[in-house]
Amino acid sequence: MTVVNVAVLGAAGWMGKVHTMAYQTFPHFFGTEGGTAHVAALVVANSAAAKDVALRAPGAKILDRWEEAVNDPDIDLIDICLPDNLHFDVAKAALLAGKHVSCEKPLADTAQQARELADIAREKGVITRVGHAFPRNPIHDRAKEIIDAGEIGEIKLFKACQHIDVYGDPLAPYMWRANGALAPTGIIGDTGSHVFSFMEFLVGRVSSLIADSYITTPKRPIVEGLDLGGAAPDVAQHTKWGDITNADGTNVLCTFENGAKGLVDFSRVATGRKFMQTYEVYGTKGSLAYTFDEVNRLRFYSNDDPIGRRGFREIDVGPEHPTYGAFLPLPNFALGYNESKIIEAAEVIKSITTGTPMWPTFETGHHICQIVDACMTSSEQRVWVDI
Ligand SMILES: NC(=O)c1ccc[n+]([C@@H]2O[C@H](COP(=O)([O-])OP(=O)(O)OC[C@H]3O[C@@H](n4cnc5c(N)ncnc54)[C@H](O)[C@@H]3O)[C@@H](O)[C@H]2O)c1
Repeated sequence: MTVVNVAVLGAAGWMGKVHTMAYQTFPHFFGTEGGTAHVAALVVANSAAAKDVALRAPGAKILDRWEEAVNDPDIDLIDICLPDNLHFDVAKAALLAGKHVSCEKPLADTAQQARELADIAREKGVITRVGHAFPRNPIHDRAKEIIDAGEIGEIKLFKACQHIDVYGDPLAPYMWRANGALAPTGIIGDTGSHVFSFMEFLVGRVSSLIADSYITTPKRPIVEGLDLGGAAPDVAQHTKWGDITNADGTNVLCTFENGAKGLVDFSRVATGRKFMQTYEVYGTKGSLAYTFDEVNRLRFYSNDDPIGRRGFREIDVGPEHPTYGAFLPLPNFALGYNESKIIEAAEVIKSITTGTPMWPTFETGHHICQIVDACMTSSEQRVWVDI
């Protein structure tokens, strides 16, 4: 058994907590054969949170600067859960220091940066991973199997969306995600990148697209202590306002290299949609449909079914799938978001201990950043963009 020493950067934030939990937890489900992780360092910029974070990972060094983790010879894997604008600098420094790197999405602010990271990783021969964990829920392995076996024929149309409503209310508080300096690609890198990860996983690479991005509310109240998902404040009591400097939503038309057409949209302003994530894949012989509301269920329609009996059948992934079976002995007990992050952690560690890269690597992250870049350019210039 090999123990991988991990440093989680941004450990007091949402993803920092989830990643720390995932490294600590995965051997309960996946065993220790693929190696285990020791959370050896946590980078916490917010000193008020440091004590609490330290209690959650006994023995871990608590550091306040990411550079300390990157330069620490005891650390094998740098896990980046920092705001988007830091991903490139931190990942580059970590790769140059010879570390394996797992980085939350979006991998970088531009495709050029992502390309540079993927190239350095290749030169250094280290393992990389981007935090696109949604497609690692085993139901999507089923979807991919059906597609790869030709059961829906040639894919002609892919439709997908991802929406939340944190900015549906014009008075919802300002958050770093809405600051173009901290999250330069806005909703496109934040949420679009998840949709694009499904496109990469299920359909293939995108060759051209046209995108229309929009901001619904140009200023929002800044409220100390309130961020993602915070309740709208009593605006009369607030005089500090922040400018929204990146996209709230984007609608995209695209063409894939295999000729399929795509129609996808994503936003943070879909009032009432707390978390909506769907895809539909239409082929010449059948189709697939998925919604996060039924997170382990796939709907499969086949022209091979007899006329008069055709219709979407529901497939629930169950313990016959090894990744599902690692968690639960019965189908339809639901693997959710956090389990997909535990799967991700298990795969990252196994990649390192076996020297085998697993999807999505920084190469995938680069492809996805190319789509993000093309959306930014297309929307600014009001044109189709080739990738
Ligand atoms: N894969 C997913 O499903 C998913 C979901 C949410 C967020 N994310 C990504 O994860 C990243 C973090 O998002 P989050 O929601 O956890 O944000 P968050 O605001 O909850 O956490 C970010 C943390 O980084 C810390 N931080 C900021 N600057 C720092 C610095 N210079 N040095 C050290 N720490 C610093 C903050 O104090 C905070 O604790 C983002 O890139 C986001 O896009 C991915």
